[in-house]
Amino acid sequence: MRELAAEHGTPLYVTDLDRVAENCARLRAAFPDAEVRYAAKAHTGRAVLETVRAAGVDAECASAGEVRRALDAGFPGGRLHYTAVNPPARDLDLVVEWWTEHPDLTITVGARDTLDRLADRGFDGRVCVRVNPGVGAGHHEKVRTGAAAKFGVPADRAAAVVAEARERFDAVGVHAHAGSGIHGEEDLAAHRELVARMGDLAREVGDLEYVDAGGGFGVPYRESDPALDLQAVADATREALGDVDAALAVEPGRYVVADAGVLLTAVNTVKPTADTTVAGVDAGMTDLLRPAMYGAYHAIRNLDADAGRERAPVTVAGPICETGDTFCDGRDLPTPRRGDLLAVGNAGAYGYEMASTYNSRPRPAEASLAGDLLRERETLDGVTRLERGGSVE
Ligand code: LLP
Repeated sequence: MRELAAEHGTPLYVTDLDRVAENCARLRAAFPDAEVRYAAKAHTGRAVLETVRAAGVDAECASAGEVRRALDAGFPGGRLHYTAVNPPARDLDLVVEWWTEHPDLTITVGARDTLDRLADRGFDGRVCVRVNPGVGAGHHEKVRTGAAAKFGVPADRAAAVVAEARERFDAVGVHAHAGSGIHGEEDLAAHRELVARMGDLAREVGDLEYVDAGGGFGVPYRESDPALDLQAVADATREALGDVDAALAVEPGRYVVADAGVLLTAVNTVKPTADTTVAGVDAGMTDLLRPAMYGAYHAIRNLDADAGRERAPVTVAGPICETGDTFCDGRDLPTPRRGDLLAVGNAGAYGYEMASTYNSRPRPAEASLAGDLLRERETLDGVTRLERGGSVE
């Protein structure tokens, strides 16, 4: 980590592509007869997508941009699923255009009128219907999709929409997703309930290729959290689905990449206060938004503090002008020193992906653990390159 930080500078995302491949293998072993799809939104980096493809896992994409990147990473249409959420016209235009060259790709619709919008564009390919199962789960209110009106066809209209899709297209599947970060009994019970309802729907409509039970499998963020028992989740999913004449599909994102990434950041300022020692670091909420957005916990290791370093309540704070721009507040950590290198753990999922240029901060670089530069550090020119004008006298 120190070598990578010295070579590429900080803040730096480090991604272990071997771990990505291992996580894919774990998923395929736990769900041996299911179609495993990677929810690309968790990390759409080219190297990650290529690793996932080579590991035999398919791609689930949330936008035309993600579809493009999956195609560029070599996913054939038959391994590509576009889950259109309130799709903008431009996204549908693009995906339908690409579908003419990749006619095996599948479009998952979450509203009846998306069928009209697809037909208007000349599409008559593979369609899956996303259902709002009315049961949600996940680590935070903002990511419990299963019961949010925004997502999916209301459950009581699902069979009718599948019937209509069948008349007009090649209707191949039904889909639902409970939410993100399923961990613990309560979430698992909700996931099971969702899958059971999808099993009922599949038996009602019949003649499907697959039932997609969504993703959301959690990972331990706290060092004290137990690991997710993936096999137990897989067994519960299978059992809840019951006997259906269709394949099971799952589409986890976080599980594939979360523990394959860390964010390295350097301590630039140390400020003792009455309650806590503030370590001012060079990464902020613009690099890793999850703590600010969801109050998410990420483990933090001081890579320069040996076991003998005294500990204290430490607040790791970024350079953004917002109170919420901290990675932890008063956490028991080794007393920081200027120049220390910190590693923020489990940053591989929804890390770089949610980075922004707020406060005119160029986005960080990304290297593989093996030492290759995967993404250059953005420059200030990169931040301003879309601007026009500058002629006000
Ligand atoms: N499938 C669908 C339709 C989804 O909407 C999502 C996530 C997934 C699969 C993958 O869920 P996963 O296995 O990664 O939990 N930014 C948030 C997470 C938002 C997830 C949105 N949808 C976070 O950082 O926690």
